[in-house]
Amino acid sequence: MDMFMNEMERSLQMVVMFQNQSLGIAIWFSKEGNWTIILLPEEPIVVETISSLIFGKVPEKMVTRIVDLRSDTVTKPTEAMRAAMASAEVDDDVLGYDPTAFRLETEMAKTMGKEAALFVPSGTMGNLISVLVHCDVRGSEVILGDNCHIHIFENGGIATIGGVHPRPVKNNYDGTIDIDLIEAAIRDPNGELLYPTTKLICLENTHANSGGRCLSVEYTDRVGELAKKHGLKLHIDGARIFNASVALGVPVDRLVQAADSVSVCLSKGIGAPVGSVIVGSNNFIAKARRLRKTLGGGMRQIGILCAAALVALQENVGKLESDHKKARLFADGLNEVKGLKVDACSVETNMVFIDIEEGARIRAEMICKYLEERGILVMQESSLRLRVVLHHQISISDVQYALSCFQQAVKGVQNEMGN
Ligand SMILES: Cc1ncc(COP(=O)(O)O)c(C=O)c1O
Repeated sequence: MDMFMNEMERSLQMVVMFQNQSLGIAIWFSKEGNWTIILLPEEPIVVETISSLIFGKVPEKMVTRIVDLRSDTVTKPTEAMRAAMASAEVDDDVLGYDPTAFRLETEMAKTMGKEAALFVPSGTMGNLISVLVHCDVRGSEVILGDNCHIHIFENGGIATIGGVHPRPVKNNYDGTIDIDLIEAAIRDPNGELLYPTTKLICLENTHANSGGRCLSVEYTDRVGELAKKHGLKLHIDGARIFNASVALGVPVDRLVQAADSVSVCLSKGIGAPVGSVIVGSNNFIAKARRLRKTLGGGMRQIGILCAAALVALQENVGKLESDHKKARLFADGLNEVKGLKVDACSVETNMVFIDIEEGARIRAEMICKYLEERGILVMQESSLRLRVVLHHQISISDVQYALSCFQQAVKGVQNEMGN
């Protein structure tokens, strides 16, 4: 309630509504400072109707409820995280004295079954540092999936900043790369006059562009064996490795046992506001610490951020299974909507990719716009594909509400187009 009142004091010259669907209330203010509490019905309410009943006019651009399904990066820190941040013991981490960073890094190294860990500002920096540590000689080459995050979404940093040559190999639909294709891509060391030198293989688990699918422990072990056989290192972009571990029912340290390094995002499914952690051997982390400083990622009192991450690890890893269930519920519901299609088998974790069926004569941008006007935020992947991601701040009721909006959106867009 305090939060509502503060918000009101800060912002309002005109009539505005606040609502909390889980409490089942909405509060409306007039510019004269009058307010009214409304009990919300179970079903989504039509805000224009209530607004005009009370005030006799319709406020512009108002939605009753926001359901943010763009990504699992959109979560807000919980009260417990904010409290931990406020009381965190901190010191200068560049000098190596921040006790809360030390606690987080120690815990993460143990959880992941590696010797050491290092907090970094983002997953992108975690991957960049890891690749650069393993590929420390100019002209090194990394074998990686052609549809992986490092190759597609990280600004080509390994090449532009690190001088590392990427050797993309086809990602299968499930996020794996065929082992024989990986082996075939390894350069012949006798051809060093012509070829870059293969140093590293990168995998991604879960594989985001494949809809959050999991790489099995058996597959990961086989890639690890191949790397060893050829004297290469294995790095895992484990932005969502806890999702994979939960979905596969394999302890996370076992899942990444074959990897020389792993980059784990704290600010995705587990809901911390900022940061990633990379893990590996003591030697790897010592080099990584130096590179983090080079890249400008050495920060001072990071215990503030690490405190939130420690709460996230404690509170939210256990909630991932429920995120996966919500994703399946969402997928099943969407498959009931004529014109939309989800490959239910691909929904292994918290992501759902939604395809618009051929002949439906609707476009993703139209659906996005229609949904946004009703407070449902989703990500457009292409003109025929949308993505939603579940996280701990989405309830079952949010899923049901979003599904009903999807149903209306498809009908609404089809009506507008005269289908
Ligand atoms: C699989 C994967 N790896 C790495 C990253 C990069 O993380 P960040 O956004 O923290 O740089 C992301 C971000 O979405 C991701 O999905």
